[in-house]
Amino acid sequence: MIYSVIEHAAELATPLGQGARRGTGMGQLLVMADGAVIWHEGIIVFVGPTSEARDWLEKELRPGDRLERMDASGKTLIPGFVDPHTHFVFGGYRDHEFNLRLQGASYMEIMEAGGGIAATNRATRETSEEALYQAGWKRLDRMLDLGITTVESKTGYGEDSETEDKLLRVMERLDADHPLDIVRTYMGAHAVPPKFRDRPGAYIDYLIRDGLPMAAGRAEFCDVFTEKNVFELEDSKRLLVAARDLGFKLKLHADEIVHLGGAGLAARLGAVSADHLLKASDEDLLAMRDRGVIATLLPLTAFSLKEPYARGRWMVDHGLAVALGTDLNPGSCYSQSMPLMLALATIQMGLTIEEALTAVTLNAAAAIDRAGSIGSIEVGKKADLLLLDCPNHGHLSYHFGMNLVETVIKDGVRVRGKVRPNPD
Ligand code: NIG
Ligand code: FE
Repeated sequence: MIYSVIEHAAELATPLGQGARRGTGMGQLLVMADGAVIWHEGIIVFVGPTSEARDWLEKELRPGDRLERMDASGKTLIPGFVDPHTHFVFGGYRDHEFNLRLQGASYMEIMEAGGGIAATNRATRETSEEALYQAGWKRLDRMLDLGITTVESKTGYGEDSETEDKLLRVMERLDADHPLDIVRTYMGAHAVPPKFRDRPGAYIDYLIRDGLPMAAGRAEFCDVFTEKNVFELEDSKRLLVAARDLGFKLKLHADEIVHLGGAGLAARLGAVSADHLLKASDEDLLAMRDRGVIATLLPLTAFSLKEPYARGRWMVDHGLAVALGTDLNPGSCYSQSMPLMLALATIQMGLTIEEALTAVTLNAAAAIDRAGSIGSIEVGKKADLLLLDCPNHGHLSYHFGMNLVETVIKDGVRVRGKVRPNPD
């Protein structure tokens, strides 16, 4: 049997639990000096101080067993980051729209003029499966460089089930071939296609008839862009109820641009998460809390759109479980920058670094229903681990905007960083 051990971490820092942490519980981490982790076949079997790890190995290892040792002196050991909200498989770019926005155009104005998601839809239809796969691979590589070990990925750049099927195939292949794990979400209801202009209800009928059955069993979640002049509450609800009947778990893009009540709908439907929430009302947020719906906040998008940030501090203070995601997409937020996201979450939204760390690990895992297997360093969970080149987790926010990730272990295998074999 092969065992692996990381020893002598200057600090091991992790949230603990099998589900999302709520409210100020988000700030309670296990923080340990001279930390060690042992894993076997990709699963953690020991967490504790290095001295106890040695005792454990002495007791458990049998003649013939092999041990791989890594030294983490001076480094901080944390769980792999989880990104619970992206749209990373797409064709083409929209840099010209970004420029228009810099000059004062709004996201919705561009969308209403035929740009926005519709522009990416056209480009995605014309991009081959192979080219989407290659572009997706490169984006996943960048995520891994930044310490992201599991990512959620939405369809939604297809206006017909054929293109949506192509996007799902690309995600399935990438999940099988690339070290990162990909959790798939069907988001046929992302924009109203020109063919259905002013008839969003008819498009929802089409998705219920054609899209959901195509994606059932392949995508785990169904998401919808619940927004004024896109899919309003009744249409969103109709689609989500049909999706739930087919076994999908639910997510919503809620109250991003205006207050429509998507957060309240998420609570009524028992969605796993509601995302964005820039304009969500107190009442709807409290209903989410009471129903256990995770608030997935996307500060990079607010930054990119120059909108006021979601009220992360208020949500934590009122007992919600907050997760953070990058929202990587070609329009509103072309960035997967975990370092910038952590800076915004702490400096601008007012989360503590401990709360932010929970939001990008355990709570992000819970937002994709994976808190039982990833998101924390605990016996029985996957060995998805990061070594940061800093003496403690506080540097994640203090040394802001920098990638501190030096080594990435995914499923127990080192996929980034040099080996530093233990000297003794
Ligand atoms: O989460 N708001 C809708 N969907 C994405 C943007 C997608 C795009 O602009 O291409 C979002 O911001
Ligand atoms: Fe999004």
